[in-house]
Amino acid sequence: MTEATYKPKELSQILLDADTLQKRIAELAQELNRDYAGQELILLCVLKGSALFTVDLMKNLDLRVAVDFISISSYGEATKSTGVVKMVKDMEEDIKGKHVLVVEDIVDTGLTLDYLRRVLQMREPASLKICSLLSKPAHRKVELPIDYLGFTIEDYFVVGYGLDYKSFYRNLPYIGVLDPTLLDD
Ligand code: IMP
Repeated sequence: MTEATYKPKELSQILLDADTLQKRIAELAQELNRDYAGQELILLCVLKGSALFTVDLMKNLDLRVAVDFISISSYGEATKSTGVVKMVKDMEEDIKGKHVLVVEDIVDTGLTLDYLRRVLQMREPASLKICSLLSKPAHRKVELPIDYLGFTIEDYFVVGYGLDYKSFYRNLPYIGVLDPTLLDD
């Protein structure tokens, strides 16, 4: 594989390298393969942060899978949740009576997923579960079940593997910690 290995100077450390991520994602996929065996599944990728995770996860699924995309905004360009969540782009599939798995990059306060879960529940899916690559419990405001979780992390602002700071760093194949002195607030 020829993936980027460079480390931008703005990162203070690499938290989860590419191999560690891919290994855990394969494990999560095995759990999903067991739990959804014989069923159809709609993967709902929450843009933009979950794009890389969704792609790698679905490549490991031995299931009949459809993928759809939704875009929710809660942060703008800041690094702390505003508590204001809005839907920027809705999904296209009708999920009534279907099994839906929301694929999220990171659960921080939980406000985004709490909002999304309530919106999706009203559409009466057969089941609605959450798969998040990361959980950062330090700032949790809403408790919600994460049915499939990659890693729990400390209170760092992380970038890479889909996660951004001011729209950059999403392309890194690993997850790194942004130098805290660079954060706005
Ligand atoms: P929540 O609503 O506070 O749970 O925030 C969820 C969203 O905030 C995530 O989907 C990310 O887009 C963003 N976010 C939270 N923590 C981080 C981080 O450490 N790095 C990059 N984005 C983050």
